[in-house]
Amino acid sequence: MAADSSWVRIVTAQTPTNIAVIKYWGKRDETLILPVNDSISITLDPSHLCTTTTVAVSPSFDQDRMWLNGKEISLSGGRYQNCLREIRARACEVEDKEKGIKIAKKDWEKLHVHAASYNNFPTAAGLASSAAGFACLVFALAKLMNAKESNSELSAIARQGSGSACRSLFGGFVKWVMGKAENGSDSLAVQLVDDKHWDDLVIIIAVVSSRQKETSSTSGMRESVETSLLLHHRAKEIVPKRIMQMEEAIKDRNFESFSQLTCADSNQFHAVCLDTCPPIFYMNDTSHRIISLVEKWNRAEGTPQVAYTFDAGPNAVLIARNRKAATQLLKKLLFYFPPNSDADLDSFVLGDKSLIKDAGIETMKDVEALQPPPEINNTQTFRGDVSYFICTRPGRGPVLLSDESQALLSPENGLPK
Ligand code: DP6
Repeated sequence: MAADSSWVRIVTAQTPTNIAVIKYWGKRDETLILPVNDSISITLDPSHLCTTTTVAVSPSFDQDRMWLNGKEISLSGGRYQNCLREIRARACEVEDKEKGIKIAKKDWEKLHVHAASYNNFPTAAGLASSAAGFACLVFALAKLMNAKESNSELSAIARQGSGSACRSLFGGFVKWVMGKAENGSDSLAVQLVDDKHWDDLVIIIAVVSSRQKETSSTSGMRESVETSLLLHHRAKEIVPKRIMQMEEAIKDRNFESFSQLTCADSNQFHAVCLDTCPPIFYMNDTSHRIISLVEKWNRAEGTPQVAYTFDAGPNAVLIARNRKAATQLLKKLLFYFPPNSDADLDSFVLGDKSLIKDAGIETMKDVEALQPPPEINNTQTFRGDVSYFICTRPGRGPVLLSDESQALLSPENGLPK
């Protein structure tokens, strides 16, 4: 180490969120976070949904510390401790001649780190913030510590923070291979195809208003493993076949098969929740209305235009086969779920705003003038039941941000800016 202890080394990374199209639900090992089945996800464009994390190391730090969206959080939990221990074990020598920093491999055991993390979307909205968060922390620390591991190997560490986090180490379509080893070494993520492979797809997320505090994924899946017979049947008999079919559908860009598998798997995951004792309800009336809307439209068209999937909460993730289908979908959604009168369009439709322009909607007046979709006789609307929409698409994996102005920690003292 350099004799002078005032140096601070910092690294900033950005990592996307992901949405599963074949769900992970149930662990065979709670501590190592090993799943009962493989899962497949789409990585979402980080320009609309991502976590940025800056990590720092300095001999002047006297403990590991972390800030999430500006507030200090405790790192004493087992999941953080496991990630920190695993990544430290892979740290290598670092030399930065310009700054006069030299860290030997063994120095990392004594050095403390700081981390600051920020989500570009509301953490409370239930949009897989822990997935992007742990993936980003592990990725950034790996770069800080000059670890030589591949993203797949890093995914096995992020997995120990939160299962779904392992799939955020890659862009495009990603498979989390459940693995067989007892120590979890082969339970990791692999990229199936990158984000360019199927770039026709457009994704609209409906953030559904809800007053209810949901059961966390961690405790929900524990209860399902203990009480749901359907979960075990699903993991053993259904998912293995579905994974093969889904990989095929993705490779061939077969939207019909993709959409059928995605919707069926989301519905089966929620059926497992209902089969849990006591039953868990993640979807609400708004979620059910969105499912009906999509099902009716797909049937009226004769071929599927949109797939839906729901995680452990009421938000809908809608995957449209192309831009044309996505603009039509957005119009239908805005007709049924217009914003409360005080909302402005700009804060009601977030993300890729060009989609709303393509739909010919410029102002709230245009929203109010929308006509009911022809395939549905019911013209009742549900004002305010969707808090906002996010328009996005499949996106890339983690990246390093070299521009120091994007760092969340000061390069002078390693504290939040
Ligand atoms: C419904 O990864 O949040 O989103 O591993 O306990 O942290 P832990 O759970 P988490 O579970 C995600 C479940 C899901 C489906 C999925 O992402 O595959």
